[in-house]
Amino acid sequence: MREQLLALQEQALVDLAEAEGNALDAWRVKYLGKKGELSLALRSMSKLSAEERPVVGQVANAVRETLEAAFASKFAEWEAKQAAIQEEKETLDITLPGRTRSVGAEHPLQKIIRRIEDIFIGFGFTVEEGPEVEWDYYNFEALNLPKDHPARDMQDTFYLSEELLMRTHTSPVQARTLEKRRPEWPIRIIVPGRVYRRDDDDATHSHAFTQVEGLVVGKGVRMSDLKGILLTFAKELFGENQEIRLRPSFFPFTEPSAEMDIRCIYCGGDGCSTCKHTGWIEVLGCGMVHPRVLEMGGYDPEEVTGFAFGMGVERIAMLLYKIEDIRQFYQNDLRLLKQFASLPE
Ligand code: PHE
Repeated sequence: MREQLLALQEQALVDLAEAEGNALDAWRVKYLGKKGELSLALRSMSKLSAEERPVVGQVANAVRETLEAAFASKFAEWEAKQAAIQEEKETLDITLPGRTRSVGAEHPLQKIIRRIEDIFIGFGFTVEEGPEVEWDYYNFEALNLPKDHPARDMQDTFYLSEELLMRTHTSPVQARTLEKRRPEWPIRIIVPGRVYRRDDDDATHSHAFTQVEGLVVGKGVRMSDLKGILLTFAKELFGENQEIRLRPSFFPFTEPSAEMDIRCIYCGGDGCSTCKHTGWIEVLGCGMVHPRVLEMGGYDPEEVTGFAFGMGVERIAMLLYKIEDIRQFYQNDLRLLKQFASLPE
């Protein structure tokens, strides 16, 4: 009988070690319940002799105590585990908003470039590009600026070697395009891109900035075509009532040359600090393509004529977005970038 009780205890402890959750309750009923194994065993004590009974009774009580204690500690352990799981569930706050992935936006300069491109594409132009590291030949010589030409001083730049430099304007793409195209086919291109000058950076100057060049070459292209295109462009960009004026100027690669001013978009011409009380703001250089430039590009200036223009993108972006320091375009300050990211065209 004694052995039977101890075997029962051993089996019960083995089962308990594996029990979890509902199985724990089942275990309690099986071993400690009213009709459980232990009760059954005790019932058969009646068959024992009077001497044996108290001895076995003691063993039976010890077994009960052992099993009850084992159960209590196992149950407490399980409860603690449940509490921990519950707590973890509660710290998972399902009311937190999801993580939004921020999508990049176009840089304000890029926006203006795209706007300019769209306008000229509407006029039938195509978009070309050229290298920022440029040969002296295309940047200067092919644009009628020989090595000793004084106008080179206005466009000092970073030289990589005697013949290789950071381009000072997008005009070398004029020369490259003339060279590349068949002379009998008309040209109508714009060229956005970055250019470099040996300038000290301040609120209105940067050693690297952005231009958009334009070039039209064909039979019978006249100065009035240039003015018409530029006026239409200015109206598209600044508004239906925008006025422009052309002022005589000089570029070695155009003849005649002009600067285009727009009526001040802030004061409408009355005079303010932005237009320095002149009522006009300069936005680009232009002119009729110099016959020597056409010639060097393989075109016959007796057969075809052309016009070209070059504008500073920063200048236009500063006017449209009311940005007062050119350096803000390059500092990548998110406060500025976000401010213009959502602006309508
Ligand atoms: N390339 C000139 C500049 O950077 C602008 C220009 C372009 C002038 C085309 C005339 C024709 O100042």
